[in-house]
Amino acid sequence: MTKEDVVTQILGERKGAPRSSGAAFAPANIALCKYWGKRDETLNLPMTSSLSVSLGDRGTETVLSVRSEKDEVVVNGDRCSPDEPFYRRAVDFLDLFRPATDLYFRLETRNTIPTAAGLASSASGFAALALALNELFQWGLDRKELSILARLGSGSAARSVYRGFVEWHAGTAEDGRDSYAEPLPYTWPELRMGLLAISREAKAIGSRPGMQRTKETSPLYSAWPALVEDDMQTIKRAIAERDFDLLGRTAESNALAMHSTMLAAKPPLCYWLPETVRIMRTLWRCREEGQPLYFTMDAGPNVKLLYPAKEQRMVQDLFPEVEPVTLF
Ligand code: PMV
Repeated sequence: MTKEDVVTQILGERKGAPRSSGAAFAPANIALCKYWGKRDETLNLPMTSSLSVSLGDRGTETVLSVRSEKDEVVVNGDRCSPDEPFYRRAVDFLDLFRPATDLYFRLETRNTIPTAAGLASSASGFAALALALNELFQWGLDRKELSILARLGSGSAARSVYRGFVEWHAGTAEDGRDSYAEPLPYTWPELRMGLLAISREAKAIGSRPGMQRTKETSPLYSAWPALVEDDMQTIKRAIAERDFDLLGRTAESNALAMHSTMLAAKPPLCYWLPETVRIMRTLWRCREEGQPLYFTMDAGPNVKLLYPAKEQRMVQDLFPEVEPVTLF
């Protein structure tokens, strides 16, 4: 099964003549129960389900229009050169939807996550792109279909078509028709995430090769699917009951378990920098002193804090450079 087959399946007869432009916003998301490992490399089908929270109004704004010569990709006001990885990924994705070879796109995208926060923007980027395509061509696709299309750009983008808490169902079908995200029917206005940027450099090993290496060579990876199944249940319960300690404890240990599978890969994968470890130790010490403060991390050195809104002052005193995010 190819990505083109999935697109044909979803669009059916709906090719659509483009309007002059289509605009969309998609929030970034941070997983509380991580996605790490694919069962299908082409369609970005995950080994396990995952659960995230979207970052409110922090994400990607995209305007897509058609033009008659050469694709153009503009990020935060700067035109990308065709040899930049982002240009290639964006154009490869747009190729899936190009109705004629002489129709070109202008993609203008702006990230509302401060770049200083060092957050990857592929999830919100591909979700915004799928939503903007739907606007441009007036397909009238529903969120489930848009989640599937966004997944073809980047796995975690499947979750960025929604705000709030989002579950991405792993699914079992070979064509991925049951591998899409859905929002959870809960909000939690007092929950905050704090972004701590440690490095803005592009990571040495991207998530795609990183997951592949972990799945193929880490002796700990076989324990990961069952652990995720348990953590998914626990995190859902914590959200339903607004049990902050249970949520923080489980999200933190899920992230550490993911990093443990990576450390045991051959050759090992370690995304942490000395500053990452220093922050983890500070947080553990704070917790011993009774502070309600937890963290999660993705495939990079940056740390994302989880805390109740009323602790904002304490968090800012500890980490003056923190970028607080209101989630709901
Ligand atoms: O969607 P990708 O290929 O960027 O992978 C995301 C992987 C993690 O961020 C580490 C975990 C997750 O669930 O977002």
